[in-house]
Amino acid sequence: MDLAELAATANECHACPLWEGRTNVVFGDGSPTARVMIVGEAPGKNEDLQGCPFVGAAGKNLDALLGLAGLRREDVYIANVLKCRPPGNRDPQVEEIQACAHFLHDQAKLVDPEVIVTLGNFATRHIIKTDQGITRLHGKVHQVGKFKVLPVYHPAAALYDRSKQEALEADFRTLTQLLS
Ligand code: URA
Repeated sequence: MDLAELAATANECHACPLWEGRTNVVFGDGSPTARVMIVGEAPGKNEDLQGCPFVGAAGKNLDALLGLAGLRREDVYIANVLKCRPPGNRDPQVEEIQACAHFLHDQAKLVDPEVIVTLGNFATRHIIKTDQGITRLHGKVHQVGKFKVLPVYHPAAALYDRSKQEALEADFRTLTQLLS
């Protein structure tokens, strides 16, 4: 199965109740052969309306951060842990993550990146399988199977927090070193 076929499967998914509230499944976007995969939490309102990840304010910040690492959005592959928007942007629930995780797993297998950048606590804990928080984990590279995983603060959390933004910018510069 390729990414387009997997996306078609996701578009028909009814495995958790989030399908009832969605406008669009937000499967993923970017290069299918990217060296870097970016993993966020779940679609927000704009993403649900447009069917594309990180198109709102957090997405603008993400684009700028990618620029610091010498990357454009089309150079990377971007996906979320959840493919459908939780109502009111509430936190993902365990059952939702369990129902959806196979899509992200298959996306990582198909894209086969060198580095996975996890944005914020949910994506980081899901991929690294840890209880530790992003404050302790950010900027430190973990090996998960064949992938190097770089946890960073979520670009939405950093929008109004100067110190988180500075840490994010430093961590995206670490990404440049990982790719050289
Ligand atoms: N926040 C996320 O985690 N993912 C998106 O796609 C948008 C905002």
